[in-house]
Amino acid sequence: MKLFDVYPVNDIVIAKALGSHVWDDKGTQYLDLYGGHAVISIGHTHPHYVQRLTDQLNKVGFYSNSVKMPLQEELAALLGKVSGKEDYQLFLCNSGAEANENALKLASFYNGRKTVIAFKKSFHGRTSLAVAATDNPKIVAPVNETGNVVFLPWEDEAALEQAFQQYEVSSVIIEGIQGVGGINVASESFLRKIRTLCDTHGAVYIADAVQCGYGRSGKFYSHDFAGVNADIYTMAKGMGNGFPIGAISIAPKFLPVYGMLGTTFGGNHLACAAGLAVLETIVSEQLIANAAAVGEYLITSLRAFAPVKEVRGRGLMIGIELPEELAHVRKALLSKHKIFTGEAKPNVIRLLPSLALTRAHADQFLEAFGTELK
Ligand SMILES: Cc1ncc(COP(=O)(O)O)c(C=O)c1O
Repeated sequence: MKLFDVYPVNDIVIAKALGSHVWDDKGTQYLDLYGGHAVISIGHTHPHYVQRLTDQLNKVGFYSNSVKMPLQEELAALLGKVSGKEDYQLFLCNSGAEANENALKLASFYNGRKTVIAFKKSFHGRTSLAVAATDNPKIVAPVNETGNVVFLPWEDEAALEQAFQQYEVSSVIIEGIQGVGGINVASESFLRKIRTLCDTHGAVYIADAVQCGYGRSGKFYSHDFAGVNADIYTMAKGMGNGFPIGAISIAPKFLPVYGMLGTTFGGNHLACAAGLAVLETIVSEQLIANAAAVGEYLITSLRAFAPVKEVRGRGLMIGIELPEELAHVRKALLSKHKIFTGEAKPNVIRLLPSLALTRAHADQFLEAFGTELK
């Protein structure tokens, strides 16, 4: 049997990983500023994480949601505290797409409506409604096509107001910082506008924090910069530092009904142990403050490089837009300087490192980047 070939891959086998570094099978060390799609939040093979997962695995790795799991309550309590949403409710699942799928569904159960507002260049996942709300026709199969999603221009308040006049809106889903779309930061006024319109019209504000959440922006949810609460926050990626776990954080006004949401694997013992280890480390190592400080340093330093077209982002979610003639830089960073970065089309380098990235790591990247720009 061979693999279903859907991923263009780098010709590198990663054999070992620690903190912000990975090593290939020949022993070459790489600085990891990508974290495997923004997943590595507290650093690779963090000792506390390894210990907590190992201990849990030696006790019980999995049981389904048919028995009491105190670990889930422990995770909910800590997540409520660290995210500053202690009165919210937690539903655990396994991935970002699944989190968004559940959020969109819950919104529709709540207000009985069908229309979802999403935005140009958005990415919300690859499952049925999540992909329908994703602005990329290439990944939407005919069976996923639905008339229930309306795409609006990014940051266009007039278009948003108009859509609320035209449709019975169930929910508005928005990334606080668009990731796949090229690191576009939603303005505070736009997020506030969404909040006001949702309140006025009985619609649900869904904050997709799958990539921009979990402290990456320098606040727990990047949507928090707007100073208003969303009704549902979706999260995954950094939540498990590599262990597949996703969740939605749900405002108190949503009342649960047995069976309305569900999953076999979501919230299992091992997943909760991973989620707890991540949050405990975020707190004990003050990683959100570190992301804010090192991110600020990187963003300011990058803006000083003349050939760079634009630097966008917040904290350790950074997009560097380069002119076309510098399209080779990302590849050179990997092949010559042994630094992993991400990309967004057409020409944006995406930095999504561990929140524990140090200033020395940032300097190593800035030096390599400067050399390639010359
Ligand atoms: C903003 C956003 N939402 C949802 C997803 C989907 O997450 P997953 O790949 O875990 O299903 C992603 C993945 O890149 C994402 O960036």
